[in-house]
This record gives sequence, C-alpha cells and structure tokens, in this order.
Amino acid sequence: MDVRAKIFAGVTLFPRRWPRAASCGAAEAITSTEWPYRDARQRNEVMRGGQPTSGKAGMTGDMASVTWDMRGMVVAVTGGARGIGLGIAEAFAQAGATVWMGSRNAKAGEAVAQRIRAGGGAVRFQPLDVADQTSVRAFRDACLREAGHIDVLVNNAGVLARKALLEMTEEECDAMLDINVKGVVLCCQAVGEAMVAAKSGRIINISSTSAAAGAWKSTVYGATKAAIWQFSRMLALEWAPHGILVNTIAPGAVPTDLNANVMAIPEQRQIILARIPLGRMGTPADVAGVALFLASPAADYLTGQVIFVDGGRMVT
Ligand SMILES: NC(=O)c1ccc[n+]([C@@H]2O[C@H](COP(=O)([O-])OP(=O)(O)OC[C@H]3O[C@@H](n4cnc5c(N)ncnc54)[C@H](OP(=O)(O)O)[C@@H]3O)[C@@H](O)[C@H]2O)c1
Repeated sequence: MDVRAKIFAGVTLFPRRWPRAASCGAAEAITSTEWPYRDARQRNEVMRGGQPTSGKAGMTGDMASVTWDMRGMVVAVTGGARGIGLGIAEAFAQAGATVWMGSRNAKAGEAVAQRIRAGGGAVRFQPLDVADQTSVRAFRDACLREAGHIDVLVNNAGVLARKALLEMTEEECDAMLDINVKGVVLCCQAVGEAMVAAKSGRIINISSTSAAAGAWKSTVYGATKAAIWQFSRMLALEWAPHGILVNTIAPGAVPTDLNANVMAIPEQRQIILARIPLGRMGTPADVAGVALFLASPAADYLTGQVIFVDGGRMVT
C-alpha cells in the first residue's frame, strides 16, 4: 500500500452529502479535479529559492496527487477578490466547486471572477460589505436564488490597521471590530440560517497567529482575531446538532495587501522570517489547501478546531 492509500484508507474523497448539480455552467468544463498544487515538490523548491526540500517538512510527490473533488458544492468566500481569499476561491474553483465571491470593490471583484471563469472555473461575484447586514443578506439571497444552496462559507474578509494603540483612531478601531468580528457574526447568521434548514454545512473562519502570539502594532487586530477563534468554538457547539461543522484557520505571515507596509520594511520582514521554522513566508495557496481539507469528507469528524497554517511559527 503506498503512502497515499494508507493515509486515506477508508476515506472517500468524493462528496457524500453534497451530490447536487453545479449551478454555474462553467463547472461542467472542469474535468481535472486534482489538488491545485500538482507539482508540490517543485513549488516548495521555488519557495526556498531553488534549494531542494529535505526530510518531511516539504510535501512529497504522493501528497501532490491527492484529489479533492468539490463538484456539486457551492462555496461562498468573503473578501475573495484578492490575497488569501482569492487563493481560496481559485482552489475551490479548480476543484470543481461553484464559488461565490463577495467584497466591496465590485469592479475589481468582477474582473477577477471573469478571469477565473475564462480559465474554466465556476465563479460568481456579488458586491458585499460584511459589516452591513443588508448587504450580507443580499449576498446570501443572490447566491441561494441562483445556486439553491450554500455548502461552505469561508469568512475571510478582514482588515488590519497596523498602529500603536495610542495612535489608533476610533474609526480605525471600529473598522477592525466591524469587519473582522461583526462581519463574521453577520455572515454566519445569514448563511447559517440556510445551513440549519438544510441540516448540513461547513463554516471556515479565518483568524490569525496574531490571535495567540505577539505581532507588531497589532493589539486591536489580534483581539479581533482571538474573538473569531472563540466565536467559532462556541458556534461549533451550538450548531453541531444541525450537522454544521465550524473550524478556524489561523494563517501566519502571508505577504498580501494587508501587510504590504510591514513587509516593505526590511528589518520587520527579517524579524518575521526569523520566527518561522520552515524558513519562508506563507502563500494564499498554503491556506487554501487547508480550507479544501476542512471542506472535504476527510474532515467529517472535525469541528471547533483551529489549524495554524504558519510554517511552525506557533511552536517557537
Ligand atoms: N496576510 C496575512 O499575513 C494574514 C495572516 C493571518 C490572517 N490573515 C487574515 O486573512 C484574511 C485575508 O487577508 P489578506 O491578507 O488576504 O488581506 P487582503 O489582501 O487585504 O484582502 C482582504 C480582502 O477582504 C476584503 N474586504 C475587506 N473588508 C471587507 C468588507 N467590509 N466586506 C467584504 N470584503 C471586505 C477585501 O476586498 P475589498 O477591500 O474590495 O472589500 C479583500 O478582498 C483576513 O481575515 C486577515 O485578517 C491574513
């Protein structure tokens, strides 16, 4: 038995509870449902500046050929138009899911959705402000009207005002609380209503290592991310009887627009890197792989958990 067969013996990677037809036409165009990082070993080598991976820290060729078949599933990703959310949206689309992305910049979001559709992905964009209940309900309703159901909700939208506490304005503080915390609550309420009625669903909330470890000028941000983590644990309890699994992904440092200002400071970048045992920053794709796992039947018995996708940062 090869390694892959051992790991997944008895686990079917095809959706058992979501055998519904895809509702966006482009899904039919996807015939390959392999995990996006087919050539994972090569990817790791590129990340490491061309140095070969060693030991078990890098992914093996076996893992690279694990398949995640998400055909028939409808996945809503908040803040899916760039950064980590885009990586997650692309990964689900590549695995055959119908993806609904929502964020505030409609022009940019529609352009990204069109690009993914051109590559064969079944992606819809709907303008969304997660901090506004009316907007959240409109997003949910548009998705349900066209797709009929939402199987997975990824609460990814988030903002970070990197400021020392005494420099932070009330508006900046409100924005982080409203988007990072209230936004997750509103989206869970709106989409969760449909999931409770369907007695099935997966919710994946994006927290951060800042929820539990020190980070530069991130006092309020860290508090919002800790709030999401505990909210997810409580919600996992509340909705377990409804067949809804709620888990949290806590990424480490992933260079995106969110942290471009700090990544541009060589000393800060160096401090961040020095704390990562795997010796490199994360990528949206690193986070997306774990999101696929949490949405898959391989995670059927997993709820109320947090997975740190941080290159080992939390161990240091
Ligand atoms: N990058 C990291 O190192 C890192 C580490 C740990 C955790 N995270 C978390 O990962 C998530 C994604 O971060 P990222 O690095 O990908 O950030 P990013 O590149 O700045 O993207 C953030 C996304 O959220 C959307 N968004 C912001 N406010 C929104 C709102 N009110 N309603 C709807 N969408 C909104 C943005 O689109 P619009 O501006 O167009 O609305 C954008 O698509 C965040 O929750 C962040 O806290 C990031």
